Amino acid sequence: MATMESLIGLVNRIQRACTVLGDYGGDDNTFYSLWEALPSVAVVGGQSSGKSSVLESIVGRDFLPRGSGIVTRRPLVLQLHKTELHKAEDGSQDYAEFLHLPSRRFTNFSMVRKEIQDETERITGKTKQISPVPIHLSIYSPNVVNLTLIDLPGLTKVAIEGQPESIAQDIETMVRSYVEKPNCIILAISPANQDIATSDAIKLAREVDPTAERTFGVLTKLDLMDKGTNALDVLEGRSYRLQHPWVGIVNRSQADLNKNIDMIVARRKEREYFATSPDYGHLANKMGSEYLAKLLSEYLESVIRARIPSILSLINKSIDELESEMDHLGRPISVDAGAQLYTILELCRAFDRIFKEHLDGGRPGGDR
Ligand code: GDP
Ligand code: NA
Ligand code: MG
Repeated sequence: MATMESLIGLVNRIQRACTVLGDYGGDDNTFYSLWEALPSVAVVGGQSSGKSSVLESIVGRDFLPRGSGIVTRRPLVLQLHKTELHKAEDGSQDYAEFLHLPSRRFTNFSMVRKEIQDETERITGKTKQISPVPIHLSIYSPNVVNLTLIDLPGLTKVAIEGQPESIAQDIETMVRSYVEKPNCIILAISPANQDIATSDAIKLAREVDPTAERTFGVLTKLDLMDKGTNALDVLEGRSYRLQHPWVGIVNRSQADLNKNIDMIVARRKEREYFATSPDYGHLANKMGSEYLAKLLSEYLESVIRARIPSILSLINKSIDELESEMDHLGRPISVDAGAQLYTILELCRAFDRIFKEHLDGGRPGGDR
């Protein structure tokens, strides 16, 4: 029987195929609904709360623009694809591809960061303006879990020099358009050195997900709290109760970034921070970026499992539509469209097969 891992892998592939097909059938075709039916994870929070840093840690590679001020200015839709492990253990087989540069394979992740910056500026210029047009990036690595993650500009309250007066509202509208979708898992990022009652992330998450079923509370900057204070009231769910446990994080500081402290060192320091902390030692195995990645992946599996019947009916609709499209391909549309349809059809059939196996053989939680 196929593992859940491979099921999430298929979800990723079909999402990618749907993205490629985006222009093909317009907004309200079945491919689009299929994409909408599949879960993804979006980060939400105030500016410089650590959103991009958290995403990077989940991926385990350095590739996102980060820093103080408004750095993330377009949505980044990031698909992680877990690949087979072969020889190189040092991550050198990892690579990235942008949808807007299909023929180029990036193995140098600082070039990925540069391309995100350049592609951002291609639309917004070297300004402090934002654009809702997403950048699509795929990362292939044996060291990731299969996930679709969305990095978003930070919520803000006031326009700064060079920004339109409407910026706060524009950003909120953009962020909301992602997180209001019932299939979006919300990573609500709040910095520990600010009062949780003022958290923009929690405020928006509570509006779009009042029962907190799909909200994960992430508390960053634990290392920056005032001496003599701690975040136990938040982390243990007493300040603001969510259905999923809160996860505390220690990302790299700006000084660490300036010194080019790498991911492996950063993760080790984060583990040490929790293991040796007098306040959080008892929670150490439920804290940190790696734990967050694991928690998300498990949750995604359970969501997909619960949605199998509805996704399956969408897929059957797609297969029917695709087959009738394929019939019409006798009249040449374009070679590309034909090849793409064929790929999608194959993916849908694989889905159908694997989902059915899960429906027939899988008791809930049965093959964990
Ligand atoms: P974003 O604007 O929400 O995407 O936040 P970034 O990830 O770009 O981080 C903003 C700034 O906060 C950077 O200078 C980071 O180094 C710093 N930062 C983020 N998380 C932490 C943390 O947990 N601890 C410390 N000390 N600094 C952090
Ligand atoms: Na920032
Ligand atoms: Mg950012």
